[in-house]
Amino acid sequence: MREESGSGESATAGSEPPERTVVHGASELVVGPDDGVEVETITDGAFAAEDGRVVAIGTTDEVLREYPAGSADVAVDADGRLVTPGFVDPHSHAVFAGDRTDEFAAKLRGKSYEDILAEGGGILRTVRAVREADEATLTANLLEHLDVMLAHGTTTVEVKSGYGLSTESELKLLRAIDAAAEAHPVSVVPTFMGAHAVPDGDDAEAYTRRVVDEQIPAVAEQGIADFCDVFCERGVFSADQSRRILEAGREAGLTPKIHADEFADVGATGVAADVGAASADHLLRTDDDGADRLVEAGVTPVLLPGTAFALGEAYADARRFLDAGTPVALATDFNPNCFARSMGFVATLGCVGMGMTPAESVRGVTHAAAEALDRADGAGGVGTLRPGAPADAVVHGVGKLVDVPYSLDVNTVETVLSKGSRVVADGRVARE
Ligand code: NIG
Ligand code: FE
Repeated sequence: MREESGSGESATAGSEPPERTVVHGASELVVGPDDGVEVETITDGAFAAEDGRVVAIGTTDEVLREYPAGSADVAVDADGRLVTPGFVDPHSHAVFAGDRTDEFAAKLRGKSYEDILAEGGGILRTVRAVREADEATLTANLLEHLDVMLAHGTTTVEVKSGYGLSTESELKLLRAIDAAAEAHPVSVVPTFMGAHAVPDGDDAEAYTRRVVDEQIPAVAEQGIADFCDVFCERGVFSADQSRRILEAGREAGLTPKIHADEFADVGATGVAADVGAASADHLLRTDDDGADRLVEAGVTPVLLPGTAFALGEAYADARRFLDAGTPVALATDFNPNCFARSMGFVATLGCVGMGMTPAESVRGVTHAAAEALDRADGAGGVGTLRPGAPADAVVHGVGKLVDVPYSLDVNTVETVLSKGSRVVADGRVARE
């Protein structure tokens, strides 16, 4: 691919978008979902953006007639390659410290995730490392992960707190997320997840009251989270506790999300439907009633096939939602238990593990993922390249949509644009 002109190679969140960006010559330009089709694609496609927002899409001839490449501050000749919207990763635990690689080996020897957590390992071990780490270290760790995500085509990612489990350390994590978001071109969506585990030696009921009475008011006062999430699970937070936490969060302005049915069905999907959650995530043990409740309530199902893959568990039933007409969002769940940052890999697992079609999987890592973050439509909606959307796009080193999930191992991403600026070139991240 030829990079014709333009700078924008070291854009950060704060820098001004280029006045004009033009991407042309795409073998296929994936636009976004359309009536009756998973994703609309334009053959020999192009788009133009002004001040970081898409203003025109069409064939290369159509777009270049009005927006000649020579008039652009950033012009990219895709030269017969695939262009997609930037990937949206709607579920990650990407801010943490410490090392749990030995647990990977223990799990391979047959130890279960829940046993490790019950013995004070797993999440609780990461909590100890996070409490010892200073904010700058947490920010630096997250920035490294954001670089890897961006190099794999992710331009929007949700990041949860949840390895602090006290007001002070949850706020430290949210400040670290905020600082990384300021310094990085990936758009970061912050989620408060004080109810990620019950702290060592604590009791779920007493801790639930502290999340409601102390943590949520403190987070709301700082204004540094958009969503509130809870691990509604056997041995962690019950359906009743989860409901109280999510309702308190909603009253404080935090939109509910829920970790549902990862190891056992304790009623999380009912809670998700009742509190109007934006998404219910995992869904490995969801029965038909639970799935129906999500579909009826309009809760976006977020499936995390990397987690099932890493744990050696059966995959979630994506087809059940798709057959009901509900798009399925896909996410990495990136965390020390599931060390996956590539949405291309997740799309592969969506197809190979869950029987999604290539188009469903690409919708799952773009527009459906944006729905799980309440950012799919309207001004600033991501996951599409329709006029009005941010010019967040990926030029892949392959020619067709199917090549994204078809590529099992190699990263297909060559060039990434974030709000019209080129932030990955030749597969390498350029940031200050
Ligand atoms: O979604 N299940 C809860 N939270 C994460 C795992 C976090 C961890 O193990 O550190 C998840 O899989
Ligand atoms: Fe998770």
